[in-house]
Amino acid sequence: MCGIIGYIGEKEVLPVLLKGLRRLEYRGYDSAGVAILDEQTHKINRVRAVGKVDILAEKVKDMNISGHIGIAHTRWATHGGVTEENAHPHVAMNGKLVLVHNGIIENYRELKEKLGNVILESQTDSEIFANLIGLKYDGNLKKAVVEALKLVRGTYGIVVMHADHPDEMVAARLGSPIVIGVGDGEQYVASDATPILPYTKKVIFLEDGEVAVIKKDSMETTDLFDQLVTKHVEEIEWNDEQAEKQGFDHFMLKEIFDQPQVFQDAIRGRYNLAEGTAYLGGLNMTIDEMRSVNRIILIACGTASYAALAGKYAIERLAGIPVDVDIASEFRYRDPIIDEHTLVFAISQSGETLDTLAAVREAKRKGAFVRGIVNVIGSTIARETDGGSYIHAGPELAVASTKAYTNMVAILLLYALEFGRLKRVSPATGQRLLYALREIPGKMQMILERKDEIKRIAEKYAHYTDFFYIGRGSNFPVALEGSIKLKEITYIHSEAYPGGELKHGPLALLSPEFPVMAIMTKDQLYDKMRSNIEEIRARKSPIVLIATDGDAGAKELSDDVMYVPDTMELLQPLLNTIPLQLFAYYTAVALGKDVDRPRNLAKSVTVE
Ligand code: G6P
Repeated sequence: MCGIIGYIGEKEVLPVLLKGLRRLEYRGYDSAGVAILDEQTHKINRVRAVGKVDILAEKVKDMNISGHIGIAHTRWATHGGVTEENAHPHVAMNGKLVLVHNGIIENYRELKEKLGNVILESQTDSEIFANLIGLKYDGNLKKAVVEALKLVRGTYGIVVMHADHPDEMVAARLGSPIVIGVGDGEQYVASDATPILPYTKKVIFLEDGEVAVIKKDSMETTDLFDQLVTKHVEEIEWNDEQAEKQGFDHFMLKEIFDQPQVFQDAIRGRYNLAEGTAYLGGLNMTIDEMRSVNRIILIACGTASYAALAGKYAIERLAGIPVDVDIASEFRYRDPIIDEHTLVFAISQSGETLDTLAAVREAKRKGAFVRGIVNVIGSTIARETDGGSYIHAGPELAVASTKAYTNMVAILLLYALEFGRLKRVSPATGQRLLYALREIPGKMQMILERKDEIKRIAEKYAHYTDFFYIGRGSNFPVALEGSIKLKEITYIHSEAYPGGELKHGPLALLSPEFPVMAIMTKDQLYDKMRSNIEEIRARKSPIVLIATDGDAGAKELSDDVMYVPDTMELLQPLLNTIPLQLFAYYTAVALGKDVDRPRNLAKSVTVE
């Protein structure tokens, strides 16, 4: 949720921290702060500001802050309001000790009592945490951190720095990720790899219960009982360019336009045309184990859960295995029925969503095969599942997910084919699907080239305050995804329904002031969808259609049409989603909204 970046080395630290914070803003961004040790005065300078990182940058500009070790944080309030006092870094010991913290301390009240008369300036659990470390400090910073951590219940990813320890930072993790970037005579520490990427691709992931002392050319990791832990340096594959806007006005638009390329990255090397099947190496299951699966559960949150729903249609159709899509926050508390024939896929862009992670742990406890479909390499879900597939969408920085969605659907389609070929799919059908899949990037490109027309339509509808999105079959998840995109970044009220469900309530709301976006591409439910649209027309609602290229009748039925190329029915969601992404994007732009950073939302939700 919140973001952490820290640095120790030869570089002037302030620009490194500010650049890092900008790259982390997508995680959470109601306030931000930096703390830097001044080697001349031996004092830590701390500056915080409410609002965007730019406001903080403006504030520190003329302050002459210099140093080579520092920590910084972007905050998304969970505990205490959005004020400068509540922003991180938090200090203790009269400003000598500073801490940045992601996560939530559950027993903060109890811990506060241990602090006696210490005066706190904020309402945060994190400041209590900082002071607790201060209380335990007797000259050894790491020891103080460890002793404080032993008293804490909750989740944390922390980095701590002390004015009397100019050569070290101490980081620890339980539930909130910490990544260390290994440089040459310098080290970075962050809550994910994004702010580290411009400098190094060599990273070390801390595990829960580990504490690291980070110096500029060494690092030592132990558990909370001082047992040394050997850590391995891993190479991150993402290249830094992928995390830049590359001339686009917003990350979201850039990421929408990334789709043809990253879709290829998702499927490359994962299928065999001659045999008409897919091979996802990371599944880590024998053929017999795969054949023993009689139920698949897809767990996810938000957009990932709509990708899951699109996957359900494909897996059931191709593999004939019943699929449940479960919202992770429900699954984890529902005591789900699972056995050793159940395969659970946890689907997550960030790989850190707390509810999804908790659901993974629950499913493992109950004996299911648990695999991940994840974007962020080395993320917690990727590491805690016993295999699975990276979706290879590259860094996705806009809060509203776009390319991760399409790549999740792509991977689920490949799994559907792989399981399907063990059961009822013939080589010829498999080949047909793969040929169609290979044509998807080109067809995505065709839709992207129609952006001006979509923009025109978006601008025409931007003044409405309500929207319905409808679709049937595998286009129902598309409607859900289109609707959440609009809601997230434009704040227009919108709901999605299966087309056949409108008459059971929602129809009551329709009027000329209530437009409907309907997905009516050519598939087996096309005629059914047409009748649904007739029902809507009778209520005089404005209608925008997603229709198949060449469907001239679509124009007569509606006020506006966004055309998409034809493909196999199961693959159509991959294309139909794109005009809806662009529609939401251009509507948000027309309304002057902050597209990449919508209010109240965060990219990565690591709290319940
Ligand atoms: C947040 C994001 C959504 C995302 C959801 C699940 O709500 O704003 O865009 O779909 O979390 O995130 P995940 O990283 O698990 O896919």
